[in-house]
Amino acid sequence: RFEGIAMAPPDPILGVSEAFRADTDVKKLNLGVGAYRTEELQPYVLDVVKKAENLMLERGENKEYLPIEGLAAFNKVTAELLFGADNPVIKQQKVATIQGLSGTGSLRLAAAFIERYFPGAQVLISSPTWGNHKNIFNDARVPWSEYRYYDPKTVGLDFEGMISDIKAAPEGSFVLLHGCAHNPTGIDPTPEQWEKISDVIQEKNHIPFFDVAYQGFASGSLDADASSVRLFAARGMELLIAQSYSKNLGLYAERIGAINVVCSTADAAARCEDIDCTLSRDMEEMVVKSVRLVSDVWNITHYLLLISWCPLVNLCCNWDSVKGVLVKSQLKRIARPMYSNPPVHGARIVANVVGDPALFNEWKAEMEMMAGRIKNVRQKLFDSLSAKDKSGKDWSFILKQIGMFSFTGLNKTQSESMTNKWHVYLTKDGRISLAGLSLAKCEYLADAIIDSYHN
Ligand code: LMR
Repeated sequence: RFEGIAMAPPDPILGVSEAFRADTDVKKLNLGVGAYRTEELQPYVLDVVKKAENLMLERGENKEYLPIEGLAAFNKVTAELLFGADNPVIKQQKVATIQGLSGTGSLRLAAAFIERYFPGAQVLISSPTWGNHKNIFNDARVPWSEYRYYDPKTVGLDFEGMISDIKAAPEGSFVLLHGCAHNPTGIDPTPEQWEKISDVIQEKNHIPFFDVAYQGFASGSLDADASSVRLFAARGMELLIAQSYSKNLGLYAERIGAINVVCSTADAAARCEDIDCTLSRDMEEMVVKSVRLVSDVWNITHYLLLISWCPLVNLCCNWDSVKGVLVKSQLKRIARPMYSNPPVHGARIVANVVGDPALFNEWKAEMEMMAGRIKNVRQKLFDSLSAKDKSGKDWSFILKQIGMFSFTGLNKTQSESMTNKWHVYLTKDGRISLAGLSLAKCEYLADAIIDSYHN
């Protein structure tokens, strides 16, 4: 009976916003959720989004159902944005993309895919990580364990720990990586460290699984922020990538993102370069139909193995694009009973902005503006802390972190003091969203941090 149901605990991130709304103090500051605010601390709708919405109104677009895999124009531009339109994985049709309900929904689809087709495989997640990752894998019944990431002593990356934990994991594990602007720490590997990470993942036959929630928002450059993903793709590895447009296009409530699966192995990639031809529509349909028939009976991986021996398929088409079609058909099969098909509005906005050169350039300028404002408050917070704190503590780690967040090093008790005494709302792990901070509030925040830290 329903009366036996206990109260669930508040969400560690979204619950902070609920507590903030209930606080009536005028000094209150919400640095909990990662959502961009203007210098006046107001929500911001990008100009390019308004322009794209006007275009949609002018065209009188309808509200018919999308296909299960989402809007084709969106799926095309989102994969191109991630990899670069000229990337061989795009040209050779090795990427299976389906629209997802922003980052969370896309991760959840991928988690269901792992649970179904890689039974028993575990996902390695960074310690710490975004508060929702563990929930997603728990609910999908995918086992997970943690790899070391954050070193409290250096307030930096525990690179040796990370490498040795990835090495120690059972062969064929999924390794969840943050494409850029690691959430919550704001600490990213250097390009050399990314090389080393991909070496180890490749050696261990693991499958990289990227969460890309901040492309363009971390450094201000879309290409630079995708370089980690592109490095792995260039090595011919099979990988999963979840994308979100919540932050970089400010489309939080539209729930727009995607899950991309790159179907490739070094061996298959080489073969495909020799035989550079693509699947015909008829063949795609034939493959999808036959997969539907057999997949209830056979595990897809067995089917893949079987079909990979078929000389006809190997000789007459790009094998990785065949795998893409198979994988996509299975992702659709998972999505249909979960939410049927995704919403259209955000997908059209992204397709219009990314697919139109003029709007695309305007978007890049707006993203630079947002990333720039965050960098300015980061600098001002560091300056204020350094000037006010007489203890000699080195606050320079704040400047080394990138993206929306700063991981302050405040523990749970200190974080609670920030909220209870100073009305500053943050997550209990000491993460603050600099996107919710204004230059005008930096001094107040510095006072709160110093007081909570030392008392
Ligand atoms: C965050 O980390 O604050 C955001 O990704 C919002 C969320 O859904 O948790």
